[in-house]
Amino acid sequence: MKPILDGTVALVTGASSGIGEAAAKSLAGYGATVALAARRADRLHAVAHEIREAGGTALEIEADITDEQQATEAVERTAAELGRLDTLVNNAGVMLLGPGVGAPLSEWQRMVELNVLGLLYCAHAALPHLIKAAKEGPRQVADMVNISSVAGRHARLGSAVYTLTKHGVGAFSESMRQELAKRHVRVSLVEPGATATELLDHNRAEIIEAVRGQNTIRMNAEDIADAISYIITRPRHVAVNEILIRPTEQER
Ligand SMILES: NC(=O)c1ccc[n+]([C@@H]2O[C@H](COP(=O)([O-])OP(=O)(O)OC[C@H]3O[C@@H](n4cnc5c(N)ncnc54)[C@H](OP(=O)(O)O)[C@@H]3O)[C@@H](O)[C@H]2O)c1
Repeated sequence: MKPILDGTVALVTGASSGIGEAAAKSLAGYGATVALAARRADRLHAVAHEIREAGGTALEIEADITDEQQATEAVERTAAELGRLDTLVNNAGVMLLGPGVGAPLSEWQRMVELNVLGLLYCAHAALPHLIKAAKEGPRQVADMVNISSVAGRHARLGSAVYTLTKHGVGAFSESMRQELAKRHVRVSLVEPGATATELLDHNRAEIIEAVRGQNTIRMNAEDIADAISYIITRPRHVAVNEILIRPTEQER
């Protein structure tokens, strides 16, 4: 990999597993110094260890980003300890499926608190740093990559509130993209289809069983990390606004 991101700093939320872990490793491979944020310190440590073994630099930040203060501190620690912030990958998310009727309200709250509020807390804290990086940074461009989903484009049965949160991420991203375009802060959206990660494991047992029974073909987290890195490694004059990426056999 070419060291296109040398001298830049990226914060990846939800970097302890799945797409966030793969994205952090990919960005480090392109030369970015990476800050890894999530709640599971042991998993963050393992990811950071792998990045360091491969010659990269990683900062572990144990944080629950549904807490405004912890989210803000994650961003501020990154900028303070690594000297700057050029890239934010807003990846942490939770998908709790099932019929809306009778769903535990706590599941709806968890999705809104993480997928919407957690993302907004990180975005809000990061924006001044990204604007500064686009002005003064080594690449004169900065990136906020927000991870949505195919569910951010199409509503489907059994995912009403997940769909709500991801449609919101898409709308927020497009409005912020327009606001920041002239300042060379690129706000982009990645909308993955089915990907083999721990995302499903947080559901109730009967939901996990029902979804596993469908034998869905899934992509790997690395496939999505490639899309994220593609966006971030484009030259300053190119903004990839949106990538919708599905396994070949996924129809909807
Ligand atoms: N997998 C798919 O099929 C798929 C498809 C479309 C979109 N997506 C989106 O991709 C993103 C990543 O998901 P994934 O598939 O990689 O699932 P995953 O393996 O479950 O990763 C979720 C990440 O979010 C972190 N996280 C959860 N709660 C958090 C909190 N309160 N504070 C900070 N971090 C938190 C988790 O770390 P800790 O538990 O250590 O905090 C974990 O690192 C999500 O936004 C998801 O909606 C996934």
